[in-house]
Amino acid sequence: MSEREPIGVIGTGWVGLVTAACFAELGHRVVARDIVAEKVAALQAGELPFHEPGLADLVTGNAERLTFTTGIAEVLDEARLIFVCVQTPPTHSGDADLSAVIRAVEEIGSAPDRALVMKSTVPVGTGKTIKREAPELAYVSCPEFLREGTAVKDFMEPDRVVIGAGTGDEWAANAVAELYEPFGAPILRTDVASAEMVKLASNAFLATKISFINEIANVSEEVGAEVTEVARGMGLDDRIGPKFLRAGAGYSGSCLPKDVSGLKQLAGNSGYHFQLLTSVIEVNELQKRRLIGKLNKHLGSLAGKRVALLGLAFKPDTDDMREAASLVLAARLESEGAAVVAYDPVAEERARELLPAVEMSQSAMDAVDGADAVVLITEWPEFAELDWAEVRKRMNTPLLVDGRNFLDAEAVRAAGLTYEGIGRPSASEPQG
Ligand code: UGA
Repeated sequence: MSEREPIGVIGTGWVGLVTAACFAELGHRVVARDIVAEKVAALQAGELPFHEPGLADLVTGNAERLTFTTGIAEVLDEARLIFVCVQTPPTHSGDADLSAVIRAVEEIGSAPDRALVMKSTVPVGTGKTIKREAPELAYVSCPEFLREGTAVKDFMEPDRVVIGAGTGDEWAANAVAELYEPFGAPILRTDVASAEMVKLASNAFLATKISFINEIANVSEEVGAEVTEVARGMGLDDRIGPKFLRAGAGYSGSCLPKDVSGLKQLAGNSGYHFQLLTSVIEVNELQKRRLIGKLNKHLGSLAGKRVALLGLAFKPDTDDMREAASLVLAARLESEGAAVVAYDPVAEERARELLPAVEMSQSAMDAVDGADAVVLITEWPEFAELDWAEVRKRMNTPLLVDGRNFLDAEAVRAAGLTYEGIGRPSASEPQG
């Protein structure tokens, strides 16, 4: 085991920490570096900065192979392959902010026997620019495709591994390919720009799929079709596939929104108007607000109404609230004069900072007490188990809006609640 290639990781966010922990689990010595001293101290004590199933066990279970540090020297002393996993958030213009990447490149410096392996999502052309600035440093683009909530599994069982490198850097690409061999996934060896584009195009395609099914849902509401049935029928076509066809309150999180606008901006900067993505983004923005219309339909004005939000995180099994539909919804509700109460099993701490006016409950049942409407935003499994008769008893007006089509509509209705989903016929509409 000790023969395995040592690895350096820069940045201990979702991608960095999962990369570090999973390679340590495979038997590699890993030095992971972050500039935030408190975060490093917490990691050294085995405390994770975010909620991700299975990750804490990997970090503590591999403590002997996994070092956390604030010092770049320790990384450079031990590893020739250095995975850059820093954040690339969107700027006001929609471009990616590459300041953390640039800083990492400067710190790594130019050395012929060292390779920078780019895991951060960067605009196409970034690798070329870095190579121009640091020609001696080998450069490999190796985008990451993990999802929050299933990050460890996604890393350990990838659908594919993409490795992009230019002439002269083959040694580094070979070394990275060797690291990934144990995963048994197809490995695509390509050039740097194409590897960079695979990442952006994949996320943009997933977002397009979601906006597409959301529009089908919206039309289905008008014409009496049931979007979950439509998605089932479409998904049976091998060319379409069943995944990412869940209609709901739009896509959110730190990646899809950022990467769709990043790709649109990248195209625009190079003189091409990416019309399709403009619509994908607009559909998504509107989708997050559609839940308000559903509340208005039943309650009229929302002023003075008490609305309970079930779930705040952008998806289950994470406490991440970046671009979450709950943020848009809570802000809209507050500006309509509604009182907002919420419950989320893990995101409460983050939510308190982001949504100071929202009353936080300790359980779903507490949240629904006296509510005029309940809106399910995050499909946490525990919400499927709720006693709907009890929910009905506690509510002031029995309206439930299921923003993820997650609940059994018939069970909810049988308990005396009015159920509204996304792209599903309302109770009042004849079905058949
Ligand atoms: C996404 C991609 O799925 C990963 O492959 C990629 O590596 C990652 O971005 C990244 O670039 O780092 P993630 O943002 O963690 O992963 O979450 P997803 O599971 O993709 O969900 C994104 C959003 O789409 C969520 O708000 C989810 O509720 C929504 N969604 C997903 C739908 O509304 N419908 C669906 O059918 C699927």
